[in-house]
Amino acid sequence: DTGYITFDEGYGNTGSCLSDITYIDGEAGILRYRGYPIEQLAEHSGFVETAYLVIHGELPKPRERMTFARLLSENAPIRQGMLRFIENFPRDAHPMAVLSASMNALGAYYPHLASNNHQNDLEHFDEAAAVAISKVRTIAAHTYRVNNGKPFNYPRPNFGYCENFLHLMFSEPYNEYISTAEVAQALNLFLLLHADHEQNCSTSTVKMVASAGANLFASVSAGVNALWGPLHGGANAAVIEMLQKIHNDGDDGTRFIAAAKDGKGDRLMGFGHRVYKNYDPRAKIIKASFYRALDSLNIKNDPLLDIAMKLEEVALHDDYFVSRKLYPNVDFYSGLIMRAIGIPVNMFTVMFAIGRMPGWIAQWREIAQNPKMKIARPRQIYTGPQIRDYVPMEKRA
Ligand code: SDX
Repeated sequence: DTGYITFDEGYGNTGSCLSDITYIDGEAGILRYRGYPIEQLAEHSGFVETAYLVIHGELPKPRERMTFARLLSENAPIRQGMLRFIENFPRDAHPMAVLSASMNALGAYYPHLASNNHQNDLEHFDEAAAVAISKVRTIAAHTYRVNNGKPFNYPRPNFGYCENFLHLMFSEPYNEYISTAEVAQALNLFLLLHADHEQNCSTSTVKMVASAGANLFASVSAGVNALWGPLHGGANAAVIEMLQKIHNDGDDGTRFIAAAKDGKGDRLMGFGHRVYKNYDPRAKIIKASFYRALDSLNIKNDPLLDIAMKLEEVALHDDYFVSRKLYPNVDFYSGLIMRAIGIPVNMFTVMFAIGRMPGWIAQWREIAQNPKMKIARPRQIYTGPQIRDYVPMEKRA
């Protein structure tokens, strides 16, 4: 009754699965991608390089880095048919609905990468990975443009991954958006910190779908849907909505926390974690970068900042939260950074999906490459009625 889903033959129904991608120690607050501490990657690396590491297992050599960057640049545009597909969603469609549909649609536009035969799909893996990582960013930005009644922008071949995203999002017909180094760095760090996180809900969903032999795009599309849930990837948006509600109620957080503690109010979004029973190391890094960017990203004047700091201060010393080992997680501060960059709240979970794409891809391949792979088939404890005979309609009261 552990609820674990079994991907590996050797583990029977008792445990989880084998993976060599990400290591987490929840008690010690440790997170490593392929053995590299997240703190070192946050300081020295960037999202594209970290995506390569998560997917291929090693830091790229100069030529590998160039080839990967070229593949991402070549795959940045999306086909006319998909542009029409995206622009025909209702203008107020939630971006996560558009994203999951569009990621799945990539399988239709690139059938040679989505044969649902893992042997064949693995032969085209590098191209499929570049299509998924590059186009998730373009699709996200195009969705924002449709949501806001604006014309599409087109990728610039000479722009980096984050710079191109910000250009696709915010350039206007007579005013190209050129991001500052601080904004591009803040976005790079946000995406890097989300690149993978072991067997979380959405990644397990990707692996469940992959275990049936499904192609990469169908699998990550399912991951997008799982991530959309407010207890998972939707939490970053829920944090800002929570802070905004506290602000609008004229509360400084005290009343909100009291209500959360006696179970009458909402949960403290951005707090707590199934695995981290200490401070989420990503939250520490994002908070530190956040304070460094207070001036350059003009966050200092954000009224929600004071409320966030008050909530954290109270919760870190309140027995209700401490006794339940509820500490800030990656979502608590990330929303404030995205808000400072100008990304609307309904796009926050989409940003999480962009960051998590390399992890989903790496974990999909772990399934597809595993010769001992068996379809995931969770079991249950039956609690329904015992055997009984059919009752004809005339005999039903
Ligand atoms: C992510 O798994 C991953 O790795 C996910 C993720 C990733 O990178 O993929 O890290 C991303 O999803 C981060 C988490 C984002 N979600 C939120 O911030 C939503 C708010 N947090 C929670 O809903 C909750 O903390 C979870 C879902 C994250 C974890 O919940 P658990 O471990 O299943 O804990 P629980 O629901 O069993 O709660 C235990 C107790 C309960 O109280 P009691 O029944 O003991 O009285 O703690 C309480 C809960 O009510 N509690 C909270 C709380 N979280 C748990 N009380 C107030 N505020 C909260 N946030």
